[in-house]
Parts: sequence; structure tokens; C-alpha cells
Amino acid sequence: MPYTYGEYQEIAAFLKEKIAFAPEVALILGTSLGPFAQEIEHSACVEYADIPHFLRSTAPGHAGKLIFGTVAGKRVVCMSGRFHSYEGYAFEQLALPVRVFKLLGAKTTILTNAAGAVNTGYKPGDIMLLKDHIKFTGASPLRGPNLDEFGPRFFDTSEMYTPELRQLALRCAEGSGLTVHEGVYFFYTGPQFETPAEIRAVRLLGGDVVGMSTVTEALTAAHCSMPLLAMSVVTNMAAGVLPQRLSSEEVEAAAMAAAPKFSAYVKKIIEAL
Ligand code: 6GU
Repeated sequence: MPYTYGEYQEIAAFLKEKIAFAPEVALILGTSLGPFAQEIEHSACVEYADIPHFLRSTAPGHAGKLIFGTVAGKRVVCMSGRFHSYEGYAFEQLALPVRVFKLLGAKTTILTNAAGAVNTGYKPGDIMLLKDHIKFTGASPLRGPNLDEFGPRFFDTSEMYTPELRQLALRCAEGSGLTVHEGVYFFYTGPQFETPAEIRAVRLLGGDVVGMSTVTEALTAAHCSMPLLAMSVVTNMAAGVLPQRLSSEEVEAAAMAAAPKFSAYVKKIIEAL
């Protein structure tokens, strides 16, 4: 069942009372890119389990919590532990975090993820700024009665990945030692990685990377007119690009290896906002 506007208000009121803090920037970080949380100063945490109506993180050993604090002097709220459709959530439930951040007053959303490269010009460790996405599977997070308080029933998605924020992120990449592309994220529900035939299809359709997150949150941000920056860290080549098989261990190890440079990059972007 989708949340009602009243439930969103209840969650936001609970958080505002618990943490007298209005975040400017909302961050949802990809699973293995968690080390960024250490960059957050003066932090206060709220466990998902303590927040009314909130979802639970099902990933084992993953303390699901919201972290409030400052990064480069900017007030941020950061989700440590995100929600994915493959965990069993309905797509409508995945609208929750971004809408709560909107009600808390966040002006910008930054989303990160780990993704597999379909574009053979990309390599592990590269960053891709999302300039667009393709989502052909699964429902929209905006399915159900429209909440007019957030945005209209039918809404434009032509520039949902805010061009000015991409320009800013490209400028911040200079001298970072990172290779930063702009490309198209192909959403796939998972939890299985794609087959080689599916990856060939993705390439024909114009996808540069594939992943199982981000797009639901991005659509929710677009619906409520939140400026948005979304970035993928390429952790591996997608199935069939290279002769070897994929493993989640490889994906996690590559994400951990990329984390220090990527954390510094995200910090620089927040500073420049
Ligand atoms: Cl190859 N596919 C998907 N869907 N997600 C990924 C991935 C591949 N590599 C990292 N995340």
C-alpha cells in the first residue's frame, strides 16, 4: 500500500522533534559506499526501527539508520542502508525516503550506486553521472493515488537529472584522479545479475550501465521537483562483456577499493553546491 500524505507528515514531524535540524542536502549512498558516512561531522543518528511507518533494512549486518550532520559545512541527512525492490518492497514503498527528506526541507538529492558497465569504453573504478535512465521493468514508485502536495499526476522527466548539478560534478572531477562519464543507467529489478543476452539487449537499447537501485528514488525526487544528482561507481563489467563470471564479492571488493577517492569526490561536490 502506498503511504498517505498524513503518514509522510507524521514521519517528518517525528524526525523534526527528535533532531532539531533542517538538512539542505539528502544523500542516499550505495550499499558498499558506506565509508562516506565517516565524513559526516557533528552527527546524530536515528534507527529506522524507531521511526514510525519507516521501512526496515533487510541486508544482514546492516544497521539501517538516518545520519544527520554536516559535510563541508553543509547540513546533510544521509541514509545508511537503502531499500530495493528485490528485498520485497512494493515500488510504492520506495517513494518513502525522498519524500520524507523533502518534508524535512532538503533542497538537493544526491544518489549513488554500484553498477555494472555495459559500455565497453568504461572500466571498473570509473564514475558515471546519470544523464538519463531506462526503466522497463517493475512499477513506478508514484503508482497509486497521486499526492498533489508533492507533485502532479503526470510529470515531465526530460531533465530529471539536473543539468546544472551534472556540470558542477564534472567541474569537481578535474584533478580528482577519477574518470567521470555521463551516461544512461538501465534499471533492472534483480536480485540476479543480468544474463549475457540481456546485457546485449541493454547495449542495443542505449544503456551504459546496469543496476538495481536509484531510479525509484530519482523518480520520486523528480515528482516533487527536487534538484537531483545521481552517480554510479562502475564496479565490474556486466555479464558477457568479459569471459569470467560475475560475483557479488567482486562487486563489493571493487566498491570498497573505489570508496576513498569516491568519498572525497562526493565531499567536493557537496562543498561546491
Ligand atoms: Cl552487472 N548488474 C546489476 N543489475 N547491478 C550491478 C551489477 C550488474 N554490477 C554491480 N551492480
